[in-house]
Amino acid sequence: MQLWQGRFKKSLSKTTNDFNSSISFDSRMFKEDIEGSIAHATMLGETGIIKKEESLHIIEGLNGILSDLLSGKLQFDMECEDIHTFIEGELTKRIGDDGKRLHTARSRNDQVAVDIKLYLRREVEEFILLLKDLIKVIASKAGEYYDTVMPGYTHLQRAQPITFGHHLLAYGEMFLRDLSRLQDCRKRMNVNPLGSCALAGTTYPIDRNITSELLGFDCPTNNSLDGVSDRDFCLEIASDLSIIMVHLSRFSEEMIMWCSWEFKFVELDDAFSTGSSIMPQKKNPDIAELVRGKSGRVFGDTMTLLTAMKGIALAYNKDMQEDKEAIFDAVDSVKMCLISFTPMLDTMTVLKGNMRKAAAGGFINATDCADYLTKKGVPFRDAYKATGALVARCIDLGTDLENLSMEEYKAVHPVFDEGVYEAINLEKCVSDRTSFGGPAPQNVKVQAEMMLKKVEE
Ligand code: ARG
Repeated sequence: MQLWQGRFKKSLSKTTNDFNSSISFDSRMFKEDIEGSIAHATMLGETGIIKKEESLHIIEGLNGILSDLLSGKLQFDMECEDIHTFIEGELTKRIGDDGKRLHTARSRNDQVAVDIKLYLRREVEEFILLLKDLIKVIASKAGEYYDTVMPGYTHLQRAQPITFGHHLLAYGEMFLRDLSRLQDCRKRMNVNPLGSCALAGTTYPIDRNITSELLGFDCPTNNSLDGVSDRDFCLEIASDLSIIMVHLSRFSEEMIMWCSWEFKFVELDDAFSTGSSIMPQKKNPDIAELVRGKSGRVFGDTMTLLTAMKGIALAYNKDMQEDKEAIFDAVDSVKMCLISFTPMLDTMTVLKGNMRKAAAGGFINATDCADYLTKKGVPFRDAYKATGALVARCIDLGTDLENLSMEEYKAVHPVFDEGVYEAINLEKCVSDRTSFGGPAPQNVKVQAEMMLKKVEE
């Protein structure tokens, strides 16, 4: 069924209808479509564009459709072009001629724009809550493991000692930025396109402030062409979600490594692991791998949206119908990832002993050894070179800096004395890193508390 009868002598061919129709994916916006229509009908009644009774009749009909759709009493008609066509048609079926007045001073162009905005505004609000849940888990784990020593890496080579809490808080910072991006986007998108009509506004005395207020928008859009052709909010949400996926994917990659026998820094709860059909010993981090894998489709969705929008002249073009599957897929995918990732992280077992053991290998206190000399007056570049020679010596002897004899130290540089053993003690190396933003347990404790406070605000 199409709304645009009158001019046409034939109906659409089956293939054209299938190709043109969007009800199979836009029906999920039925609540928003009805919400938008109720606001529009209310405004039409209040401004006298239609009679008060007609407006009330329409609203009653729309509420009936809403409750029947929610209860499952009414099914979508997949022959309809889109959700807007279906609801308007159903309304007229139910209430007769008054139903035909609903589309006065409105077009599907501003209708669909308001529907997606309402739909995505809710989703953004949900993402804000999901991110807060994740950050809370991260911050509380960081508080729990504030003094758990582990190796920090660059190039995946052991570099300098840090704490597990500090490592977790790094992800917390990323998700806090994601949170603020979405909060920012929520503010910017909250302008009402309804009343832009097809592209050029209307000659009816509509009041766009009424619909804005009813739908919780801050104000109406300033320009009717922009109102119907703007999908920046889709692009912004998809971009924000893509960045979330970058962060989740990096975190997943680390979880996958940490679960391996080579690292064994963490063990995932059985409820978040899978087995192998042939290898009885396997416990696989499938959830983390899927999160990492799904990042690709979210980036793809963002690219779909950018490409769909980049070449279309103002105002509405049917290309814009392509926005929905992409943004819905991004929203669904990232939501699933967050819903799975957060409890997986929350229930993992942290194997502190293995982290400590890994920290003891790989000379991650070499910088501290050089710093020790530097603090005794040796220029850093010389101290660096001397420590390099000590590391080479340790490798030859099959030992580490902690167990190298004082004679060996002195042979490389005369300034060394017994104090070096304390200076390269891993716990001390970490606890002395009190520079702002550093991994010292006392810093991590404070940062974890601050992070919790920030999300609880
Ligand atoms: N199904 C369309 C979409 O999703 C609704 C808008 C149709 N407007 C039009 N002029 N054909 O974009």
